[in-house]
Amino acid sequence: MSTAKKEYKRVTVKSLVDMKKNGEKISMLTAYDYSMAKIVDAANVDVILVGDSASNVMAGHETTLPITLDQMIYHASSVVRAAKRALIVVDIPFGSYQSDSKEALRSAIRIMKESGGHAVKVEGGVEIKESIKRILNAGIPVMGHLGLTPQSIYKFGTYTVRAKEKHEAEKLKEDAKMLEKAGCFAIVLEKIPAKLAKEVAESVSIPIIGIGAGNGVDGQVLVVHDLLGMTHEFNPRFLRRYLNLYEDMSNAISQYVDDVKSCDFPNDEEQY
Ligand code: KIV
Repeated sequence: MSTAKKEYKRVTVKSLVDMKKNGEKISMLTAYDYSMAKIVDAANVDVILVGDSASNVMAGHETTLPITLDQMIYHASSVVRAAKRALIVVDIPFGSYQSDSKEALRSAIRIMKESGGHAVKVEGGVEIKESIKRILNAGIPVMGHLGLTPQSIYKFGTYTVRAKEKHEAEKLKEDAKMLEKAGCFAIVLEKIPAKLAKEVAESVSIPIIGIGAGNGVDGQVLVVHDLLGMTHEFNPRFLRRYLNLYEDMSNAISQYVDDVKSCDFPNDEEQY
């Protein structure tokens, strides 16, 4: 049974703000390809994030840094062809918006024009304020991302919980306010204490979507391959696995190999 309070033909940035106002939690999941996006969209996930986590999940890189703008556009355009209901948000990858605000705008425009995505996401606070403003001025909706920001992993050195110290928590709160004031339509808060995330969610009017940020926020996001248990070496406390697809897929593929080797596949009905 669906717990949605209202049916949305197409979720928009405005729908998300309405959901927050109406106390309806927002569901967000990643997808990077057509087939997965079809399934995610048909399950009524509100927001599909074409995350730069594609760099890890799809391409096998250790970090999100190597993925390029062209590669993000390729993933996003596959998702756009599949999804009929969800709002599609596309990460601007590392190196495509940090150097100056004009470059940031050019990257955002390429994503919107070439992939057909509906909004972009960027990591960081006051440091990238000018870029965010320039993108917003061009009419492109922007989602912020604070807390654990994987594009800065080499600056922090670890993937542990962020903003436990008072000064970092204060900066995060100021950054969230700044993103709201600049005009961002939502903010992802990644891997921060639940109490702090709840405080931020209560202090701004735009939706706060958490990943490892507790239940006091306006919505949740996970990487779909983690939720489905296709990845099995990544086991953070915040992750709930709904399936163990790694095992199920491995068993199915091993069975196929055995069937081919033993001449069981194809059988008489499986040929012309
Ligand atoms: O790239 C990604 O998948 C993300 C989520 C973890 C929020 O940014």
